This record gives sequence, structure tokens and C-alpha cells, in this order.
Amino acid sequence: MNTTTSVHTASAPGKVILFGEHAVVYGQPAIAVPVTQVQATVTIAPAPPGSGLTLVAHDLGTRSSLSAAPEDEPLAAAARLALAHLSNPEPDATLTVTSTIPIASGLGSGTAVSTALARALAAFLGRRLDPAQVSALVFEVEKIHHGTPSGVDNTVVAYAQPVYFVRGCPVERLSVRIPFTLLIGDTGTRSSTRQAVERVQRGRQRNPARYDALFDQIGDVVIEARRAIESGDVDALGPLMDDNHELLIELGVSSRKLDDLVEAARFAGALGAKLSGAGRGGNMIALVEDDLVDQVAEALEEAGAARVIATQVTTTD
Ligand code: MEV
Repeated sequence: MNTTTSVHTASAPGKVILFGEHAVVYGQPAIAVPVTQVQATVTIAPAPPGSGLTLVAHDLGTRSSLSAAPEDEPLAAAARLALAHLSNPEPDATLTVTSTIPIASGLGSGTAVSTALARALAAFLGRRLDPAQVSALVFEVEKIHHGTPSGVDNTVVAYAQPVYFVRGCPVERLSVRIPFTLLIGDTGTRSSTRQAVERVQRGRQRNPARYDALFDQIGDVVIEARRAIESGDVDALGPLMDDNHELLIELGVSSRKLDDLVEAARFAGALGAKLSGAGRGGNMIALVEDDLVDQVAEALEEAGAARVIATQVTTTD
């Protein structure tokens, strides 16, 4: 068993899915990028002997001891899986979570908290986890909450790099030839990934041929988007985002508010726009030329966006 006397902190970014959400659950590729403007941070400090691990989430106003927390309580589940992975018994410590990532909005808030937690706990115990280990561990946590996650969220957050992701395949980092700017507009409506994924699942059960054809079309868009990103053909990306949004509408995962924000962004000059993540609420993204960022952000706010974040998509080493 490792013991430690110092405080350890780790952070993880939010994420957006650029292309391919939902179809990725059925084996199609997806492209996702980290959003470093929002972060989850976990700090672990030593506690008196015998006190066990206390989990504190200030944003949620919760405080619980690991031993008393229910099996499926998200923080406790992540801590238990991390300790099992590290073959370490429960340490005497206080683990505190803070996050600027809006909850249940498609920006990967739960994924980032689990990622930061795994890294902070490992560091506290004098260990280091590489991105592949963190990703695999967080995937196990995601299964508890989302049922059948594809693995794209834990991958992009653990690697903190743009990724081209296919379920069950080794992760491919995406090289962004020419950086581009996205605006992320929040509908302010919370959305459950599990429910959205189950909705698509039910649709597919009713009409497999139609849904599989939609998944194939989304896959084609993703492959084309990869080519555009890697070759610096930014102009091609906007129409591809529009195509992807139409296909997501057909899958039944958009909403009136998402469509309104997408439309407002396009009308104000965005090169393309789509919902991002599970849909039915949460966030949309718009591809925007740098001189139009303020104009499109304003249009999104006027159309009712609860919050707008600008982020640049780039490859970092
Ligand atoms: C959620 O961020 C992305 C979905 O495709 C679900 C998944 O990939 O597990 C909707």
C-alpha cells in the first residue's frame, strides 16, 4: 500500500463531438476534440488515519464517504474502479471535485471528472497512468452511467487531442492542418446521453434498414470531414456539419431549440452548424471565421443560447 502526505491535483478538459455522434455507437467513425476552455479538477489531500476516502463535490453540494456511497454513485464508482485498477486499498484522504463544465450538456462533464479523478488518485498514491490506461478505466465508469458507450468520450478526454475514433480500434490522433474556430452554444436544456442513445436504439429496432442507412451516411460524412481537416480544406467542413445535422434530425435526436440555434448561427454567417453529443438538448457547434465570431456569438445569445464558448481546434504536442 502507498501512503502520501502531499496534496495532488489533476485536471481534464471538456470535449465536443465534431462529427459522427450516435452512428459511432454502431461502428461508424467519429471525430471529437477537447475543449480546454472548460475543465474538471480533482484535488486529493491527506486525511487523519482511519478516516477513509471522503468525496466532496462543491458544485453539487455533496459530501460522502466512499464506504457509504451507493454502487452507482458516479464519483464513488470512479474512485472504486481507479483503486481496483491501481490495486490499492482505500486511502485516508479527502477528494474534492470542482468543474466549469456544464452538466448533462454534451461537453463531457462526467467523463472529465472521472478522468481527473483517476489521474489525481494515481498521483496521490505515487503512481502514473498513461492516457490509454486512463481512457480504459473511465470507459468502465461510462458503462455504469450510459449503458453502451462507444468509447469516444473517454478517448478524447484522456488523450486531450483531436481524435478520429472507431469503436474497438486503436485511437488515431487527428492532425489539424489549418486550425479553425468553433462556437459552442448551449440550449440550457439538460440532456441524458443514456436516454438519447436508447431512443436511437428503439428507432433502429423498429426500422433497422433505415437507421443503418443513416449510420452509413453519417460515416461517409465523417470520412470526408477527416480528409478536410487533415488537408486544411476548412471550407468543406461547414457543409459537412450541415449534412451531419440533417442526418441527426432524421435519427430523432435534435430538438426545436437545437435547430433554432443551428439556424441562427448559419443565418449570422457561420460556415456550418450542427448539434453536438447526444442531442435532445445540450450543445450545438458552429464553424465560424475569426472575424465573425462576435457576430455569430451575439446571434446565438439572441436566439436563446444559455452560454456561448469559443474554442480553437488545433493539434497540440
Ligand atoms: C455522446 O457524447 C456521444 C454518443 O455518440 C454516445 C457514445 O458515443 O457513446 C451519443
